[in-house]
Amino acid sequence: MASTFGQLFRIATWGESHGPGVGVVVDGCPPRLAISREEIQAELDRRRPGQSRITSRRDEADQVEILSGVEDNLTTGTPIAMLVRNSDARGGDYEEMRTKYRPSHADFTYQAKYGIRTVPGGGRASARETIGRVAAGAIAAKLLSTVAGVEIVAYVKQIGDIEAKVDPATVSREKVEGNIVRCPDEILASAMIDLIDVTRKAGDSVGGVIEAVARKVPLGLGEPVFDRLEADLGKALLSLPACKGFEVGSGFAGTRLRGSQHNDPFFPEAGRVRTRTNRSGGIQGGISNGEDIVVRAAFKPTATILMAQETVDVQGNATTLQARGRHDPCVLPRAVPIVEAMMALVLADHFLRQRALCGRMT
Ligand SMILES: Cc1cc2nc3c(=O)[nH]c(=O)nc-3n(C[C@H](O)[C@H](O)[C@H](O)COP(=O)(O)O)c2cc1C
Repeated sequence: MASTFGQLFRIATWGESHGPGVGVVVDGCPPRLAISREEIQAELDRRRPGQSRITSRRDEADQVEILSGVEDNLTTGTPIAMLVRNSDARGGDYEEMRTKYRPSHADFTYQAKYGIRTVPGGGRASARETIGRVAAGAIAAKLLSTVAGVEIVAYVKQIGDIEAKVDPATVSREKVEGNIVRCPDEILASAMIDLIDVTRKAGDSVGGVIEAVARKVPLGLGEPVFDRLEADLGKALLSLPACKGFEVGSGFAGTRLRGSQHNDPFFPEAGRVRTRTNRSGGIQGGISNGEDIVVRAAFKPTATILMAQETVDVQGNATTLQARGRHDPCVLPRAVPIVEAMMALVLADHFLRQRALCGRMT
């Protein structure tokens, strides 16, 4: 089913951009995990539109309601249903898109596949769908930090041509949250903000790269062969709207090195097996090796721009579209908590799968 994700820690998201609301059902979360509405809300606040001048101006409070599965701030082991109501929808902005397809958006393919589509806000192709992922991801992250001390931090590494060098081993959430673009390098962050500002004023959009690290991940997560940890992380991130590329560890840059330069030598440290370079990005043979898991996700420039563009109408005639509405000139600042959420969901699922596997052996 296309709207469910995960095997043991499983989520199903639902809802459209301009419908009554969006949400998620989390099934398989163990009981007695301490989680409050405020902890989930804090993550949604990082994702919400209208949070700064470089995000969409749609003004949604995105207040989460927990409908089931949590009692006195403890999970009960039953399905956790969460709802966020849509309140600032302006369907009229999408009238022209009823008859014309937005270039590089989902209008044409949804229409071709289903023979029907929800026009206002792009329906389910809208990034509002990711609200459910972020709410569920907050619970997954709490599970991982509670049972294993896992820390997940994502940040903007690149906007357009501006690229920051960040050490994933030491980057902190506080540094990332220190500016509105969510890049921990303050000087480059301000250049990135200027670039997004200039692009927005021109009615255009810009893309970039988010890097994410998961620290203190237990050894042994990931399943050979089809559910390799990097394969599941790749699917998780590539399932995000506008995500067009995924790398782990040295990624594509590693292809330029020889094996002698690229290999990640082992060394002993305080009774642990460590690796020197972490070019493997914390995963070898599809299984976590105890080092930091480091991944990158590339996001394209936002499809809906406020400039006239060549397109076709629903009859297939050439025409021009002059889109309106409130759009993110760059999706990356808001995608940071979404990337963290997807990483947490994958790791929590594999943590429970590893626990089930080891449980059978003892
Ligand atoms: C946080 C976030 C915000 C987004 N905001 C917009 C937006 O304002 N306008 C838009 O056209 N696309 C936006 N997108 C991307 C679209 O949802 C996406 O391009 C669309 O679903 C088509 O999918 P594709 O680009 O992966 O092919 C956003 C994506 C994310 C992750």
